[in-house]
Amino acid sequence: MQPLTDPAPPVPPPTPPPSRERRDVSVLVVYGSRFGNTQRLAEALTRGLRSVPGISVDLLPVTAAVPRDLSKYDLLALGGPTEIFSASPPMKEFLARLSPEALRGKRGFAFDTRLDGPLYGSAGKYIEKHLARLGVVMVRPHASGIVRSMTREEGTWYGTEGAPEWARRLDPGHPPHPSGPVDLLAPGAVGAFERIGAELGAQLLRPGPIPA
Ligand SMILES: Cc1cc2nc3c(=O)[nH]c(=O)nc-3n(C[C@H](O)[C@H](O)[C@H](O)COP(=O)(O)O)c2cc1C
Repeated sequence: MQPLTDPAPPVPPPTPPPSRERRDVSVLVVYGSRFGNTQRLAEALTRGLRSVPGISVDLLPVTAAVPRDLSKYDLLALGGPTEIFSASPPMKEFLARLSPEALRGKRGFAFDTRLDGPLYGSAGKYIEKHLARLGVVMVRPHASGIVRSMTREEGTWYGTEGAPEWARRLDPGHPPHPSGPVDLLAPGAVGAFERIGAELGAQLLRPGPIPA
């Protein structure tokens, strides 16, 4: 009798191609702030971005040693106070150090705080234009937080908690509008920047080209 031969050894399943490590999408948030208004928004934006798994964020004041090598970042979010109808001197100095080579393939987003009204200018608009000229693809229009006074005086700037009762009676504010400037006088305004951060994060992770 023929000895039973072992059945042919099972064919091992094909080894999958080495899976590409999924890299976090990396964001650098740089802010200028004299009195803390824009800093609050930069921090809120960062919280929103960090709430999205897969997004990593470095948050730096523009006066700090911002890295010269920006190659690890996919998105630069730059914001500052509007001063004399434009961006503040430290933000302008930072922008002047950026080159098209260092920014090749980068996405961008600009934000500011400013007084209410088209005649007062917008640092966000200035930053946005500057980055776009250097070839950065801006992923959404710049966002503004509206303040009531030139400084962060007590009682004139209302953050996450909204205006104190006395001010609310005088000035109810308006709810933040998703596509317009965020009114920092309105309750929950800082939360609006958190939402912008979360939306940006989700947008960056969506497959396919990011709409400009
Ligand atoms: C020197 C100076 C100039 C300013 N010029 C403008 C201006 O031209 N337009 C405007 O909308 N706001 C202007 N502001 C108001 C600031 O934009 C506003 O107070 C901002 O929220 C300050 O932000 P920060 O606390 O982050 O510095 C000016 C403020 C200062 C101190």
